[in-house]
Amino acid sequence: MDRNLALEMVRVTEAAAIAAARTMGRGDSHLSDEAAVSAMRSAFSSLDIDGTIVIGEGERDEAPMLFIGERVGRRAPSSPKLDIALDPLEGTGLCAYGRAGALAVIAAAPEGCLMHAPDTYMDKIAVGPSGRGVIDIRRTPTENLRALADAKGVEIPDLTVIVLDRSRHEDLIKEVREAGARIKLIQDGDVHAAIATCKDETGIDMLLGIGGAPEGVLAAAALKCIGGDMQGQLVFRNERERERARVMMGEGDIHRVLDIDDLAHGDIVFAATGVTTGDMLRGVRFHGGGCHTHSIVMRATSGTVRFIEAQHNFLRKPNYNDEGLLDGPASE
Ligand code: FBP
Repeated sequence: MDRNLALEMVRVTEAAAIAAARTMGRGDSHLSDEAAVSAMRSAFSSLDIDGTIVIGEGERDEAPMLFIGERVGRRAPSSPKLDIALDPLEGTGLCAYGRAGALAVIAAAPEGCLMHAPDTYMDKIAVGPSGRGVIDIRRTPTENLRALADAKGVEIPDLTVIVLDRSRHEDLIKEVREAGARIKLIQDGDVHAAIATCKDETGIDMLLGIGGAPEGVLAAAALKCIGGDMQGQLVFRNERERERARVMMGEGDIHRVLDIDDLAHGDIVFAATGVTTGDMLRGVRFHGGGCHTHSIVMRATSGTVRFIEAQHNFLRKPNYNDEGLLDGPASE
C-alpha cells in the first residue's frame, strides 16, 4: 500500500472530527453523527483509492451514507482496491454531551484483511505490546490480570483496567476489584480505550468487557499497527442477530474466539482524530478562522506511529466555509 495514503487518510478523519466538534455539547447525538458522516463522506472523494466499506454506518437500507458495501474514493483505474472500516464519530454521546474520548476513525487494508463483523456485541480483551501473546479471553479476568502483571514485571494492583460503564459489566467489575486492579469506567468509546492500552502515558493496561463488534475490528486494526494484542468473541442479544451472523460468517465461526489476526491483518493503515479530548488525543480546539486537530496515523507494515498536530485555516481552505465545514471535497 502507498505509504502516503496514511497521511491522506488523516485529512478524512480531520474533516469528520472538525464537523462533529462544531456540534459538541448540543445534546443531540443524531446531529453530531450526521455532521461527522457527511464531512467524512465528502472528504473521501479526495482519496486516491477504490474503497469498499466493510464496517460502516449500517446496512444499505438503514444508513443513507457510508453504508456497508458503499464504494468510496476517487476510484480511478489505477487506484488501489481497499476494504475500509470506519466510524465517523466513535462516541456520538461523548461528543453530544462534551465528554472525553470521542474520535473520528478509519482503517484501510487490502481486500479481505478486515473482518466483516456483524452489528452485534463482542466480548473483548485488549492489551499493549508488553501483553502480546499472554492474554486469553477463555480465562478469567483475574487470570489475565495475573498474566499481564507477570509480563510487565509488576503486581496486579499496579494495573489499570478500562471498562465501559454498563450494568452488564457488574460481575466483571466486581471480579477486577477483588483481584486488586484499578478500574477506569468510561461512558462510551472502547476503540479509544483499546488504543490507550498501547501508550504508557495513558496509564491504562487492559481493556475488558462487551462493546460493539464493528468497534472491535477498528480497535484490532489499530492494535495491529501499534503492536498490541486483542481477542474477541461475538455476543448476541437475540436470535435475529445470531441468524445475521450465521449468514455472514457460517455457523462454525460465530461462537469461536477471534484473535487479533481474525479481526484485522495485512497491510493496514489506521487514522483517528480526536473530537473531544481523551486519554490519548486532544479534541478539536477552535479559534477565530481556524482550529487545531490532533490525530494518530499508523501503518501495520512499518509499525510507524505518527501523532499529527494540525493547524487549519478555514479562510485559506478552498472547499471549507468559515466554520470549517466542507462545502466540497477536501483538497487541502
Ligand atoms: P457510538 O459511537 O455508536 O455511540 O458507540 C459508542 C460505543 O460506546 C462504542 O465505543 C462501544 O463499542 C459501544 O458503543 C457499546 O455499545 P452500548 O452503548 O450498546 O453498550
